[in-house]
Amino acid sequence: MKTIGQPPFYSSFFLATVIIALFLGISSFVTYQQTPWKAPASADAKKNPLASDAATIAAGKEVYVKECQSCHGKKGKGDGPSAATLDIPAGNFSTAATQGQSDGALFWKIEEGRKPMPSFKKKLTENQAWQTVVFIRTLK
Ligand code: HEC
Repeated sequence: MKTIGQPPFYSSFFLATVIIALFLGISSFVTYQQTPWKAPASADAKKNPLASDAATIAAGKEVYVKECQSCHGKKGKGDGPSAATLDIPAGNFSTAATQGQSDGALFWKIEEGRKPMPSFKKKLTENQAWQTVVFIRTLK
C-alpha cells in the first residue's frame, strides 16, 4: 500500500542526521575556538609585590623553565615541545595582547589556569607565580 503525503522514511532520517551533524560540528567548533581569555577586572587591582631585579628574573626563569616552557617555549612564543599536542595555541607572550595586560591579570591566569593550561595555585607559591610574571615581562 502506498502512503500518500508521508515523507519516505529516509528523508526524516536524513534530516535528523543533518541536524545532529550540524550540532556536533558547531559544538566542536565552539570548543576549539575558545572565547578570548579575560581576567576579571578585580585581578588588575592586585599589585605585584616583587621588583623586577636580576634575582627575581632569575628565580622566575627557573620556575618558567621547569613548569611553563614545555608549552610556552623558551622565549614565550608558544612553541614549546608540548605545544603541538595542545588543542589551542599557548599564545605569544611578546605580543601587546599579553604585555598589555596588568601584572595582576597575568598572575590571576597563572593561578587559575584554563584548559589545556593547568592551574598553578597548588603547584607554585604565590611568590613563585609573581616571579614568573616578572620573567614574562622580559620576553618582549
Ligand atoms: C600544558 C601547557 C601549558 C603549561 C604547562 C602552561 N601553560 Fe600557560 N597557557 C597555555 C595555553 C594553551 C594558554 C592559552 C589559554 C587560553 O587562551 O585559553 C596559556 C595561557 C597563558 C597565559 C595567558 C596569556 C595571555 O596573553 O592572556 C599566561 C600568563 C600563562 N599561560 C602563563 C603560564 C605560566 C607562567 C606557566 C608556568 C607556571 C604556564 N603558563 C604553563 C598552556 C600552558
